[in-house]
Amino acid sequence: MTKKLDKINKKAEIANQAFWDEIAPIHYKSYDIEKLKQGKSLIDEIQKKEMGDVKDKSFLHLQCHIGTDSLSWALEGAQVTGIDFSGKSIKIANELKRRLGLKARFIESNIYDLPDTLKEEFDIVYTSQGVLTWLKDIKEWGKIISHYLKPGGIFYIMETHPSLYIFDDDKRGELTIKYPYFPGKGPTFWDDDTPDYSDGEYIPKNPTYDWTWPLGEILTSLIEAGLKIEFLHEYDRLFYKGLPDMIKDEEGWWFLPEYKGMLPLTFTLRAKKI
Ligand SMILES: C[S@@+](CC[C@H](N)C(=O)[O-])C[C@H]1O[C@@H](n2cnc3c(N)ncnc32)[C@H](O)[C@@H]1O
Repeated sequence: MTKKLDKINKKAEIANQAFWDEIAPIHYKSYDIEKLKQGKSLIDEIQKKEMGDVKDKSFLHLQCHIGTDSLSWALEGAQVTGIDFSGKSIKIANELKRRLGLKARFIESNIYDLPDTLKEEFDIVYTSQGVLTWLKDIKEWGKIISHYLKPGGIFYIMETHPSLYIFDDDKRGELTIKYPYFPGKGPTFWDDDTPDYSDGEYIPKNPTYDWTWPLGEILTSLIEAGLKIEFLHEYDRLFYKGLPDMIKDEEGWWFLPEYKGMLPLTFTLRAKKI
């Protein structure tokens, strides 16, 4: 990475950290905390089935946000460590853990600095739903996942399919390509009035930066880091309202009625450390 790009990326991470600190308390109100309080997991059936048994497995959750998914996996029996660089998110995750009386460990750290503080290996490394576009270096991401997996350990991800990001997300009707699928030289800056994906009434005050990672670069990063891809699945539904014409089905997935079964909106991937 050149010095100039390194500087831009650092500035972008600082801005994003402020954004996530702002959004954490908003999500504490908009996420389904009540369901969690009733002892019910927030993990969907696709992930549960594809992940397999997590009982008593050591489980590292990267970019855990306010810990709702981490604590859901703890309810399924995993021994969870969640990490996130938003201090406010980690504070809420710890409060939730105490209130729910669940066992988990939460660590405030940038994913790229984690090897300085966390010195263990895990049976499972997990990350999901709204994580990759926040990361400045996809090659390094794969190395960090591999670093934390025991030999034979499993990595699992459920994420928005990168092909969704090419469409004009302000326009209704026929889909129009507005953004490139392939990455530019650095992050993209966003400072508009787009509402939060979870609380549609809330307009974030802090701007953000994001990075574009095509599916090929995501896969290659994991392969080069020594992981064997077990499967890559694609789905025509999404965990949030990513485009204005999307509607929600009875299971809580968002989909495009006009394009049902035609476009990949989510992918899942499981890989094994060789
Ligand atoms: C969309 S949220 C993850 C969503 C999660 N699936 C959930 O709904 O609870 C993205 C998270 O990534 C975290 N994040 C972004 N960049 C990061 C980085 N470089 N290191 C660690 N965490 C990061 C943010 O603080 C935020 O909590």
